[in-house]
Amino acid sequence: AFEKTCEQLGYANAHIERFAAVVVASASEAHGFEVVCEQSGQTVEVPAGKSILDALIDAGLNPDHSCKEGVCGACETAVLGFDGELDHQDGILTKLERQSGKTMMICVSRCTGRKLVLDI
Ligand code: FES
Repeated sequence: AFEKTCEQLGYANAHIERFAAVVVASASEAHGFEVVCEQSGQTVEVPAGKSILDALIDAGLNPDHSCKEGVCGACETAVLGFDGELDHQDGILTKLERQSGKTMMICVSRCTGRKLVLDI
């Protein structure tokens, strides 16, 4: 209710502190996609049910991270391109930040398309 009221009043940066992840039902969990890592030159397959962060770690990359629940912001990564839509499942980004498509929390958020390009 607090977030909704702030949004209606135009307060885009109201401060919220979460101590647990926001549970978001998502259809994008059911399919995999590939992540192109622009800086490293690697392309990593993210299978259904696995996070982007875990797939990148398993591929030998070492993205910044901490909570792995979408509440700390440590894994925020710049998005360079994507098919479909970004499926934000974090509790950090504002509605406007989500709509901009510029960054995502790779520990919980996904892509509804087949390809995602990250600045990593
Ligand atoms: S590791 Fe905390 S938001 Fe992703």
